[in-house]
Amino acid sequence: MVSGQWAVVGGLEVREWRIGEWRIGEKNWGMKTVNVDDAIEICRREKRFLENIIDMVPESLVVVNKDLRIKKANRTFYETFQNVTGRSLCDILQDKEGKLACELTRLFGTEDMLEKFELHYWSEKLGDLTFEITARGIIHADAEEAEVLVVARDRTERKMAEEALLESEEKYSSLVESTEDSIYLVDRNCGYLFANKKYLSRVPLLTGKVKGRKYSEVHSKEETKRFADKVKEVFETGKSLFYEYRNPRDGRYFVRTLSPVKEPGGIITALTVISKDITNRKLSEEKLEKAYQDMKATTAQLVHNEKMSALGELTASVAHELNQPLNNIKISSQSLLRDINKNRLDINALPQDLKEVVEQVNKMAGIVDHMRIFTRRLEGMNMEEIDINESITNMFVLIGSQLRSHNIPLCQELAPDLRKILGDSIGLEQVLTNLMINARGAVEDFRETGRIIEIRSFMNNENEVAVSIKDNGGGIPSHIRDRIFEPFFTTKPPGQGTGLGLGVSLKIIEEHNGRIELEVEEGKGSMFTIILPIAE
Ligand SMILES: Nc1ncnc2c1ncn2[C@@H]1O[C@H](COP(=O)(O)OP(=O)(O)OP(=O)(O)O)[C@@H](O)[C@H]1O
Ligand SMILES: [Mg+2]
Repeated sequence: MVSGQWAVVGGLEVREWRIGEWRIGEKNWGMKTVNVDDAIEICRREKRFLENIIDMVPESLVVVNKDLRIKKANRTFYETFQNVTGRSLCDILQDKEGKLACELTRLFGTEDMLEKFELHYWSEKLGDLTFEITARGIIHADAEEAEVLVVARDRTERKMAEEALLESEEKYSSLVESTEDSIYLVDRNCGYLFANKKYLSRVPLLTGKVKGRKYSEVHSKEETKRFADKVKEVFETGKSLFYEYRNPRDGRYFVRTLSPVKEPGGIITALTVISKDITNRKLSEEKLEKAYQDMKATTAQLVHNEKMSALGELTASVAHELNQPLNNIKISSQSLLRDINKNRLDINALPQDLKEVVEQVNKMAGIVDHMRIFTRRLEGMNMEEIDINESITNMFVLIGSQLRSHNIPLCQELAPDLRKILGDSIGLEQVLTNLMINARGAVEDFRETGRIIEIRSFMNNENEVAVSIKDNGGGIPSHIRDRIFEPFFTTKPPGQGTGLGLGVSLKIIEEHNGRIELEVEEGKGSMFTIILPIAE
């Protein structure tokens, strides 16, 4: 019986053999008893099968002999590299420094592995490539026959992806580290996954390794609960949220934004927390708010003063206006008293006398009523349907006698067929009074004689009612015309005007959806026209 340990049949290695019997491959492959021809045929089929598989592998597989020349190679290798005949593998793979050659030579006569050897390659056809080389020594009975199997994987894409990733990681990292905001990542249980340097500088307790530490370790119980609730909300809703936070340690204000980090499937794995320091903004806002409140209070005071100063101007005429009915009452009462004393009271004339007294009292009550209304604050307008002619008449209750006492004739032309408007009678009377006081001031400043103020009411068109107040003062110089409605703009000497009259009037008219128009003839006078929409 002829037998042996090694044989190559049909190119395939056979571990043990006897004529008529073969054992192929590893021990646990069971014995197959075949005749030699069948065995050879089986081996050929196996070989073709394996060769096909090897050809389909996307990596280049090469077996080299001791002088590193190619003994066998698969299709990928031949398709990738040209002009390979007669050349050594290291030459083909452009191993310029001979490092690969050195590594491969070391493997001959061993079963050692060379792993992840990286090699850069360039050709006109393929451009820049990066190969990852893996190799393994194959021992043969005859040491001279020793071979090395070399696998060359094209890792160019992966390499580029790795480089891109590294680059983007570097970019993000420099972005995350260079910002003034605190940035950190937490998991569902408020455990830190990452924190940038800024955050670490703000939370001094969080020294050393951040990963694995808990939010609760460096924050109060109360704050941890608040934060945990927010984290829970983001995990549940999948939506970002933000809220304001004040650091109890240094009192600084922050806006925290919590955003979910989602995996491609949409599962939330962590939260990014970005904490922006808004202390300066907050302080400016507080200052601004305080300044606004102060200004509001000052303005309210000035508006009030404006009304009071207008009222002051009215006092004289009101006194005059009250004087007359008071005198009448006094005369009537004295005469009645005299008659009673002298027992000659005409009982039949008494009702008439008393009626006159009551009329005088009513007149005074009307004046007092208007004064009270006038001093009321401007807040809370009371809109009702009103006849603007009535407002004009009411306005004269207070100001008419003042004009008369200043010797300023008034020309009044009130249209009888005016439509009603929707308005606040107190506000509108205040506007009319302001315009009349300005007109009076203008004629007094400008004219010794021939002063006149004209007031007209008319339908501006079928939808609008108008009241014009025209004076023959000096007019308004063109360079200040744009400014006269500005609050606090005045040409009066200090202490004499607040400059709020027109500003307040315009505001009131605009609240009525109306407008004020101005016509000026320099040196001849001004005419202010209030235009208001009729009540629907
Ligand atoms: N009829 C007018 N003729 C000429 N100038 C006028 C007339 N009405 C207003 N002006 C000018 O417009 C300015 C602003 O008027 P406004 O009524 O707002 O304030 P004021 O009269 O100066 O002060 P206040 O009304 O608060 O007492 C006046 O100072 C004046 O220069
Ligand atoms: Mg004024």
